[in-house]
Amino acid sequence: MKGLILSGGAGTRLRPLTHTRAKQLVPIANKPVLFYGIEDMAAAGISEIAIVVGDTHQEIREAVGDGSRFGVDVDYIRQQAPLGLAHCVHIAWDFLGDDSFVMYLGDNMLEQGLAEFVEEFEAQQEQSPDPSRAQILLAPVENPSAFGVAELGPGGDVVSLVEKPADPPSNLALAGVYIFDSAIHEAVRAIEPSARGELEITDAIEWLIRSGHRVSHRLLDGWWIDTGKKDPLLECNRLVLDTVVRRVEGAVDGASRVEGRVVVAQGAEIVNSTVRGPAVIGANTRIENTFIGPYTSIGDECAITDTELDHSVVLEGCRIEGANRITDSLIGQHVQVTRSSERRQASRLMLGDHSHLELG
Ligand code: TTP
Repeated sequence: MKGLILSGGAGTRLRPLTHTRAKQLVPIANKPVLFYGIEDMAAAGISEIAIVVGDTHQEIREAVGDGSRFGVDVDYIRQQAPLGLAHCVHIAWDFLGDDSFVMYLGDNMLEQGLAEFVEEFEAQQEQSPDPSRAQILLAPVENPSAFGVAELGPGGDVVSLVEKPADPPSNLALAGVYIFDSAIHEAVRAIEPSARGELEITDAIEWLIRSGHRVSHRLLDGWWIDTGKKDPLLECNRLVLDTVVRRVEGAVDGASRVEGRVVVAQGAEIVNSTVRGPAVIGANTRIENTFIGPYTSIGDECAITDTELDHSVVLEGCRIEGANRITDSLIGQHVQVTRSSERRQASRLMLGDHSHLELG
């Protein structure tokens, strides 16, 4: 079994962060989203992985390297434009050959590991007289109309897939993980681009079904999050922070309190401040006269002074001074938020394209 991780795409829904950075590298509990997917694959015994990359290929290559630090081999496949998930399979054929593979969306995260799904798929391929040629992972959701939705037949096989249906046939959304055998290569070559100009993976799976192939499903246990938008990303950060183990390697002065499940990385300094977990404070970050509340991740090399901050993700190199209270926020790299010494009721802003600012 091989692994294919999709990390191209445009990332329009995470602008302005994605003007300058791959959305798959946005950190969850100070670790890039993409790393969790690679680790899940490694834990499932998958050692040959290709990552489909787009315009942000350089940055992804620098972050992931050859995969050795995850104990896997990583190849890169350059996609010239985000032409769809099935297009990614199309261009990965040389790498995949006739092997079965797990396809994982690089900005998705699952609570549950992949090992069980991979073992089951491999076992039924060897043992069943009519093995399924694809297996999709499904998660019950409250608003199926916002997702790709599966309709299941009486035996549990998938009978159809519909993108964002007005009248959903079930509440089972397609989570961003699929297992395919080599039949998918014929499917991605047989389909035409959709109205939005992409080769859709749902169309390729529909093609398999219509060609008489079995497509099976498994229900996910635990959460699944597409981190490609701000609020789900903060939610994902919250869920992962709930699992961190306390580790204080940086310096905490006598006037400070570090409460509960908190990671204070090496070189970080907590001065006259409270950090109430779950929270992570990155390496060489200085927190002074500040309250860091639950569910907050602060990246490396930040300086935060005279501020209250909770339920937020702050990327590396930020300087935040005198912000009364910041909550539910996602702050990109090297952002500066400061308070003017002149007491006037006006804010001075320099925001990137597609920024969001909700003044309190
Ligand atoms: P999406 O989130 O569906 O698309 P996107 O990245 O273009 O984002 P947005 O809608 O905000 O503009 O993509 C899911 C994952 O698949 C994501 O990690 C990017 C990746 N992807 C590719 O690698 N190639 C593609 O052609 C597409 C459409 C997505």
